[in-house]
Amino acid sequence: MSVTDKRFEDERMVDGVLHSSLTSDELLKAVRKMEIRNDDIIVVTHTKAGTTWMQEIVSVLFYGCDFKKADSKSIIERFLFLDIHIPDCAVGPHEIADSLPSPRLIKTHFQQHQMPEQMLTNKAKVVYVGRNAKDNAVSLFHFCNIVSHLRTYEWDSFFHDFCNNKAHRGSWFDINLYWWSRRNDDNVLFIKYEDMQKDLSSVIVKVSEFFGWPIPDGKLDEIVNHCSFVSMKKNPKTNYSDSTTVGVNFKASTPFMRKGKVGDWKNYFTVAQSEEFDKIYEEKMKGTGLVFDYEL
Ligand code: A3P
Repeated sequence: MSVTDKRFEDERMVDGVLHSSLTSDELLKAVRKMEIRNDDIIVVTHTKAGTTWMQEIVSVLFYGCDFKKADSKSIIERFLFLDIHIPDCAVGPHEIADSLPSPRLIKTHFQQHQMPEQMLTNKAKVVYVGRNAKDNAVSLFHFCNIVSHLRTYEWDSFFHDFCNNKAHRGSWFDINLYWWSRRNDDNVLFIKYEDMQKDLSSVIVKVSEFFGWPIPDGKLDEIVNHCSFVSMKKNPKTNYSDSTTVGVNFKASTPFMRKGKVGDWKNYFTVAQSEEFDKIYEEKMKGTGLVFDYEL
């Protein structure tokens, strides 16, 4: 076990996916069977692939580009997070979901075989954000070390677990390849984190067209600015500074909005680790057509 300073007794593998104590077996069963509505708006990512960034874009557009309205609640409260049962909350996310009016804003990192079954057949719109595996790994490594319900790692043990699909929330390959296989579905929009870095305004326009939410004249630049790393890092509604309200307490000083860069992996992967990972990567990604930028 790759634990360096604490054991997380309730952290366990469920059907090949590592879940924390906040994701109970009961929750997994109930979420699988929950109702998904045709007008649900769902942001799906592998943990640390740019979820919050996409949530902010989606909610700003959803609220008619009214920044005040969008940011009247923390990003954590704006979207229902399906994957955890918030400590001290009497009901689970599936029960909260039932009581929410439509259209619901939902976020999940569940792998295909653990997400609500109706997401396979239902017409709810899904925006998927994928991020290059190495930066995704580094960001997840830091996240594990700052969130109190997750185990703390040294980089080398985290790298080992990530390569073996034993890191938090399972295989980077499985979730990315699943949503890539659905990229041409009418109700799925597949976005890459690196494309958001390269040309944020084009991504925002794509999202607005996908949902059919027009951007008022002159507003696009304002949205780009509002959703920039610098703005979101300063904004208490997006930087998770009020995260204790949902029971996911940070245990270290690394901020949630950490670096927001493409290529930070080079500061963590040794040359040998990078080569080892490249071998696994080549084998799993061969023939899929899914390509990510590893530097810009
Ligand atoms: P880093 O840890 O590499 O900095 P998630 O929201 O899925 O948890 O992803 C968090 C990652 O997205 C963090 O990556 C965070 O800094 C980055 N991120 C969040 N908002 C961003 C933005 N506006 N621009 C660039 N990166 C952003």
